[in-house]
Amino acid sequence: MRNPIIAALDVPNAETALKLAAQIAPAVGAFKIGKELFVAAGPDIVRRVRDTGAAVFLDLKFHDSPNTVARAVAAAVRLDVQMLTLHTSGGGEMMRAAEKSAQDTAKSLGRPAPLVLGVTVLTSMNSNALAEIGCEANVGHQVERLANLAVKAGLRGLVCSPLEIADLREILPEEIQLVTPGIRTGAEKADDQKRTLTPREAVAAGADWLVIGRPIYAAENPLAAAEKILESLK
Ligand code: C5P
Repeated sequence: MRNPIIAALDVPNAETALKLAAQIAPAVGAFKIGKELFVAAGPDIVRRVRDTGAAVFLDLKFHDSPNTVARAVAAAVRLDVQMLTLHTSGGGEMMRAAEKSAQDTAKSLGRPAPLVLGVTVLTSMNSNALAEIGCEANVGHQVERLANLAVKAGLRGLVCSPLEIADLREILPEEIQLVTPGIRTGAEKADDQKRTLTPREAVAAGADWLVIGRPIYAAENPLAAAEKILESLK
């Protein structure tokens, strides 16, 4: 079995991130570097985590003009990340430019293209928040609309909330990879995650990858927590 656990390195500096990564590496499949760590520690943290041999998911959620996003994606491919994110609300042209840039840059470097993942509706947004910015207020409809647009634009993966996995699996081509945060084992509190599933439930619903932050990094023993989650998937 491929290890589907992506551990979020949601910590404030490189030293803490590298220590955590070394500690939990045996039990996880990849590491996610998000905005806090990237802004604090820069691209060097990506290189240092990659140097340990681990796969890196660069979660910067790009949303800009197509050319700007394409160039940011090319820079991420040169950093040798295996997954990266963009906002599908940036539109079809932006997504096509991003995917093309990922493919072309990877090809020119002779390595596999990273998975460009589309983020649909942030889990922190509800129907009021969507209506406020002039979008379709039904979260489920908006997620479906953006997911279909992403697939049409050539993306091969999406980030979605655990409770959207089953519905998306019904409408999307089988090969689309689904990555989900909002995973809770039941042993810890939900924090600010409003819609959660256990790791096993998420995989059963059709998730390919599980992004897990606090249940691992905030645990008393992060390695033991990750091992327990992995065990629960067997
Ligand atoms: O909640 P947890 O610490 O497991 O978060 C893991 C990842 O989930 C975070 O790195 C963040 O990208 C994402 N997240 C989310 N919605 C929230 C909080 C975090 O999707 N409300």
